[in-house]
Amino acid sequence: MELLENIRSNAKKHNKRIVLPEGNDERTLKAADEIIKEGIARIILLGNPKEINELAIKLELQNICKAEIIDPLNHDKNVYYSEMLIEIRKKKGLKEEKALKLVEDPLYLAPLLIKNGDADGEVAGAMNATGNVLRPAFQVIKTIPGISIVSGAFIMILKDKTYGEDGILVFADCAVHPNPTDTELAEIAVATARTTKAIVGIEPRVAMLSFSTKGSANHEMCDKVINATKIVREMAPDIKIDGELQADAAIVEAIGKKKAPKSEIAGKANVLVFPNLEVGNIAYKLVQRLAGAEAIGPVLQGMAAPINDLSRGCSVSDIVNLIAITAIQAANMKQ
Ligand code: ACO
Repeated sequence: MELLENIRSNAKKHNKRIVLPEGNDERTLKAADEIIKEGIARIILLGNPKEINELAIKLELQNICKAEIIDPLNHDKNVYYSEMLIEIRKKKGLKEEKALKLVEDPLYLAPLLIKNGDADGEVAGAMNATGNVLRPAFQVIKTIPGISIVSGAFIMILKDKTYGEDGILVFADCAVHPNPTDTELAEIAVATARTTKAIVGIEPRVAMLSFSTKGSANHEMCDKVINATKIVREMAPDIKIDGELQADAAIVEAIGKKKAPKSEIAGKANVLVFPNLEVGNIAYKLVQRLAGAEAIGPVLQGMAAPINDLSRGCSVSDIVNLIAITAIQAANMKQ
């Protein structure tokens, strides 16, 4: 697939260091092997080195020997990282004993490595639930200044090329923030437009979705979407956006012309922003299953360094793709 090939070859240019906290997971190890073999990124694996090496031999992986392996239970910077964590969490009253325990958890150690400049990004979640991956990331890395929440976008590659940009649409938030306010929804839209440009390489046309198009229904839920659209126009006037729009008015040209004839976006949207996580998560999974779309992500956006969360049902190529995306995000953040 052309987009995925572009993402992988773009990542190669940057040679970023990506930390994988689930070093003992077979799929993660296979993905790490492929990443190293293809030169997509440098890899840091967290876990017991003996177990990782034995698993690599069992799986006949030739390139794991080129990865850096850090054992969270036994390395020379445990105390250093625990002191860093105490400093970061001092307002929360984190004490030494608890901090020393937390840095033994690979899901805490990984963001600390990034914070300390020892890694550029993280991919985890093949073995851990979303909340367990995200909580340490939020606590240690936090959001980009000026952004208050992290959200998750999916790049949807459809078989039907008539929708979006040649069949590509970006959906958000499908993964993180359950019930955004109007301002938070605006932040999600801005972040998703930026992700679309940086990762997919297309000019975003953002539709703020609702069950109403341009006042066809009156409800406080629609008002939230209308307000969020106004806020985006003030926050980021460069972004092409419209709302509130129903999904059909957003993506079907003939319906867009009928329901919102003055809109620049209706019928042409390639970014769909959902009013809350329930809708976004259900929508991406239905499009993936019923339309046979490929769903790449979630690509987490708004965090001060790139950390991305996998689904526990992920495949090796899902992990490879997300590592490549994380490397590109790391490069964009540096710029
Ligand atoms: N962005 C940035 N920071 C956040 C966010 C956010 N969206 N949400 C919480 N935080 C911060 C909090 O401010 C807090 O920081 P602090 O400790 O420094 O004060 C820290 O994260 C922990 O916050 P909690 O409220 O204790 O964490 P919570 O238990 O709410 O967990 C979480 C946050 C895990 C993101 C939660 O909102 C959640 O579970 N979301 C849904 C995730 C999910 O299950 N998605 C669907 C599956 S993914 C898929 O299908 C692809």
